[in-house]
Amino acid sequence: MKTLPSQNPTQTTAWKALQAHYNQTKDQHLKDLFKEDATRGDAFKIQWENFYVDYSKNRINAKTIELLLDLAEEVGLTEAIKNYFGGEAINVTENRAVQHMALRAPASQQTIVDGVNIVAEVDEVKQKIKGFCEKVISGAHKGYTGKAITDIVNIGIGGSDLGPVMIVESLEYYKNHLKTHFISNVDGDHIHQNLKKFDPETTLFVVVSKTFSTQETLSNATTARTWFIEKASAADVSKHFVAVSSNIKNVTEFGIAEENIFPLWDWVGGRFSLWSAVGLSVALSIGFDQFEELLAGAHEMDTHFQQESFDKNIPVLLALLSVWYNNFYGVETEAIIPYSQYLHRLPAYLQQGIMESNGKGVDRNGDKIDYQTGTIIWGEAGTNSQHAFFQLIHQGTKIIPTEFIGFKKSLFGDQDHHDKLMANFFAQTEALMNGKTKNEVLSELATKNLSQTALDALAPFKEFPGNRPTTTLLIDKLTPKALGSLVAMYEHRIFVQGIVWNIFSYDQWGVELGKQLASQILNEIKDNSPEGHDSSTSNLLKAYLK
Ligand code: F6P
Repeated sequence: MKTLPSQNPTQTTAWKALQAHYNQTKDQHLKDLFKEDATRGDAFKIQWENFYVDYSKNRINAKTIELLLDLAEEVGLTEAIKNYFGGEAINVTENRAVQHMALRAPASQQTIVDGVNIVAEVDEVKQKIKGFCEKVISGAHKGYTGKAITDIVNIGIGGSDLGPVMIVESLEYYKNHLKTHFISNVDGDHIHQNLKKFDPETTLFVVVSKTFSTQETLSNATTARTWFIEKASAADVSKHFVAVSSNIKNVTEFGIAEENIFPLWDWVGGRFSLWSAVGLSVALSIGFDQFEELLAGAHEMDTHFQQESFDKNIPVLLALLSVWYNNFYGVETEAIIPYSQYLHRLPAYLQQGIMESNGKGVDRNGDKIDYQTGTIIWGEAGTNSQHAFFQLIHQGTKIIPTEFIGFKKSLFGDQDHHDKLMANFFAQTEALMNGKTKNEVLSELATKNLSQTALDALAPFKEFPGNRPTTTLLIDKLTPKALGSLVAMYEHRIFVQGIVWNIFSYDQWGVELGKQLASQILNEIKDNSPEGHDSSTSNLLKAYLK
């Protein structure tokens, strides 16, 4: 079995060279780098399909990229990519392959996992999704009183919610008549608030849980079924409940018939599962053909990542830039700002993808790590974010590498709005890079008729240091295909960063402890007997139970 190389990155020659290079270049100002080289904007860009990736406004020069590429080679990225795509069990702590790429591969492709061609299995499930979508969308699938379905309710959490909801919201423009809702939190107020909106005769619940053992999802699904049965009957459940899961036994025990189960496999990680039947609510909402376009876009990015040389490879380069800031500049967080309201859930989706994957402190040899790993990701849609937290990015004390994602064309074609939106998009990256010097501030204030003392007092507050790194992704148009490529790009970046940091990106043991304690505390709450806690937790529990 081939798994992954396990090289401590800090022990490589490239890492040491990068450290020396950082010491030499860390104070260079981006503005000066652009002045020194008029072609910098051409040197650090990639044009791929409908993506224009400009990474020239980063605190790098040609040597930085050369050394980062050396690092990628030295940690064995080439071999790692081969094993990743080859279906090897690279999720070592769970002894599983990582094959979300097979979910979007053409049916003619072969990927063998444990001696089975998984692409053929995927295709079978796709046909089932296709048939079901056609029936629900056309109205041929009838509810218990003979009416067509109008509302789809996705019940799931984490990867069984964030992927589908992010895609459905992002592709709202391409949606059909079905109304799609998402219930994830175990907060009962949320589901009860939502149930008030639904008509049991025309609502379809899609219960999504890979393990079918997640407390939140099972509680919400049970509440939904109880609500449904009160209006209809247990015999009608099959027309209104379907499940997506790899745990057929638990689903049938819950009361959903086997023919209403859309399976997935061990080799699909929850946070990478939107391409599988976990994306059923996406396929229902935009139709199967457009769902396939989403998959096709992701597949194109898979091919780019797998075949392109590292110096022109979008996921590789952007991952290495993130390593550069995280490990050499010591930056604490990275922002992702999509300039499209449709993509407002993308940062939340990427928080799970990136932080659940690479938030690890033990390396692939099982040793505690003494360098930084997982980046903290946050963001909001532009221009809203400009009026919320951009102040800190411009003038705060922290460096926050920021990624701007924008589209050349709007969907409704309102050019005036789009020009305004994109003017902000371009202006922010330029402002973050250039900043504003004291002289510029003073000459701006010259017309204000202020005394010299007043001018000198005000100027420092109006100065901007600039030199704030940004990367710009300019994409032709928000289509299912482009979105598929964009999301797959982030998935492969996660992989590359995990390889460099010598960690396992595909397990998530860190979420287990809280789950275990919650189940223990729940028993104590039910028995009204909190026991054995520290004085803080114990007082809080007593206050809750009083
Ligand atoms: O948060 C932990 C986690 O296991 C995620 O990785 C996963 O996406 C989520 O819970 C939901 O799991 P399931 O699909 O099994 O309900």
